[in-house]
Amino acid sequence: MRLIILGAPGAGKGTQASIISEKIGIPHISTGEIFRDNIKNETDLGKLAKEFIDKGQLVPDDITIRIVKNRIEQADCSRGFILDGFPRTVAQANALESSLCKMHQWINKVLDIDVPDEKIIQRMMGRRVCPDCGATYHLIHKPPVNPDKCDVCSGNLKRREDDTEETIRKRLAVYHKQTEPLINYYRDKGLLLVVKGAEDVKDTTEKVLRALGV
Ligand code: AP5
Repeated sequence: MRLIILGAPGAGKGTQASIISEKIGIPHISTGEIFRDNIKNETDLGKLAKEFIDKGQLVPDDITIRIVKNRIEQADCSRGFILDGFPRTVAQANALESSLCKMHQWINKVLDIDVPDEKIIQRMMGRRVCPDCGATYHLIHKPPVNPDKCDVCSGNLKRREDDTEETIRKRLAVYHKQTEPLINYYRDKGLLLVVKGAEDVKDTTEKVLRALGV
């Protein structure tokens, strides 16, 4: 299956993508995670991406498209993949379609996780991430077993630098302007599935798996 997960920042794209990835055994590709890895390793890409991410803006299309194109050409994507956080603009969606077309492939499903903005701000304030392995927690909805320690690798959990209320509001504005149009883009192509994501993780996962038929 080649699946795109759409949704506002904090809608739960990463949480659901990692559950689906484990369940059906296809890679979870998060452009945000790729950028954060590069920022951590202080690469040229990381330095460039940080300038945009810290301001709540999108990293330019040409850079993001090149990264995803290279990633989906790798052997582990031959049985499918889950794109989390890409595409985020119509230009990215068009570029994805043309790259897949050259590989005689296509997107099977697009899942939109729909959560109201106010719920999102409340959620993001409680998010904690492991800088070592990328695992994501929530202080209330998905707490780690030991406070501030990652269950997977015992790394010290942190707040993401772009999870301040000011940046979250900017990211939401960018989402509504630049990414939301993709909902109709994929609806018109007959690929869109919408799941309400305001309930807890378990209930949302049940709805997601039912919608995907897996
Ligand atoms: P990215 O990392 O993709 O950030 P995002 O889209 O803003 O989404 P998040 O990762 O913040 O949230 P999520 O929807 O994955 O939610 P999560 O599962 O963590 O991108 C970061 C930045 O990189 C962008 O701002 C941009 O600058 C750049 N970028 C990335 N892709 C790009 C692209 N294609 N083009 C250009 N620039 C790009 O959940 C959030 C929290 O809520 C967690 O704590 C979780 O435990 C909790 N939670 C999840 N589900 C539930 C639930 N159902 N109930 C209660 N709590 C829940």
